[in-house]
Amino acid sequence: MPSSPTFAERLIGWQKQHGRHNLPWQVSDPYRIWLSEIMLQQTQVATVLDYYPRFTARFPDVHTLASAPQDEVLSLWAGLGYYSRARNLHKAAQQIVGQFGGSFPDNRKDLETLCGVGRSTAAAIAAFAFRQRETILDGNVKRVLCRVFAKDGDPAGKAFENELWALAESLLPDNCQDMPAYTQGLMDLGATVCKRSKPLCGECPMETLCEANKQGRTAELPRKKSAATVQTLPLYWLAVRNAKGELLLEKRPARGIWGGLYCLPCFDSLEALHRYAAVFRLSPDALEEKQPLTHRLTHRLLLITPFQADTGLSETSAPKPSAQSIWVAESDLADYGLPKPLNDFLKQLR
Ligand code: ADE
Repeated sequence: MPSSPTFAERLIGWQKQHGRHNLPWQVSDPYRIWLSEIMLQQTQVATVLDYYPRFTARFPDVHTLASAPQDEVLSLWAGLGYYSRARNLHKAAQQIVGQFGGSFPDNRKDLETLCGVGRSTAAAIAAFAFRQRETILDGNVKRVLCRVFAKDGDPAGKAFENELWALAESLLPDNCQDMPAYTQGLMDLGATVCKRSKPLCGECPMETLCEANKQGRTAELPRKKSAATVQTLPLYWLAVRNAKGELLLEKRPARGIWGGLYCLPCFDSLEALHRYAAVFRLSPDALEEKQPLTHRLTHRLLLITPFQADTGLSETSAPKPSAQSIWVAESDLADYGLPKPLNDFLKQLR
């Protein structure tokens, strides 16, 4: 009796017929593949499709990226969130130029030494660009494996994580030429068929293999991580303008929320904002309170109350409260990397 096709054979066949084939990062250039994998780490494909062409147009190769000012890299990243990705990307480009002579490392172990590149991302680059037999294991792939093999270990546990890595490695196709289709297949299956809720089991190449499907357990697998507690963090922004109508911005410290981006002066108490406003001879009464806004980060909910005021001071007499402060004309705001909620707020101010 002929044996049933393997996991890898089913996946590769399905990817070729039903998977995604026209994504702009489905190329052979490891630089473009790496960039896409970093962008896609915490961002949806549809959003990345918007940012990726602008980024590659400005930074077409690793040398251009390595030699660019960090501010410019951050400004093209602004709105994508998780800004440490952009700072690491820039540092990794400098590592590739400085430590690898400008050519991309071609194996997972070396790729993992790059800033911002973990095991799964390194494996994706190695598989797509260099046809290495390395497995990815991101959240989507974990879901596929937990269902197909009815794995119900503790999703927060290191032992279970190791078990899934070992399982994923055991499933790799024998022929390294199949690695790009296989890897893309894992991503495509998790994203389009084996979805978190309402998986399309009738369209799945693993339907007859899938233990969760056989046992009617697709809704309970993978087990859910216990919900992280979300802390609310109140913040206060001050939008001050000089007599020319320029806005005062401050470069954020490298670490922490929106690290390296430009933002309005930002405070964790109203008192701190009032002390700062006094530098411009603005009393609390002179500050106009605007509609508050919220912004969700992974483990925090920012509750931002913005204030605005015109100092009436000329750009030369208006003080610059710190070395990180700059006055920026409205027409130049697009040149700065601004956090998304700030962009939304400024649109509303105009
Ligand atoms: N998510 C992570 N990497 C991806 C890729 N190469 N294509 C589509 N989605 C992805």
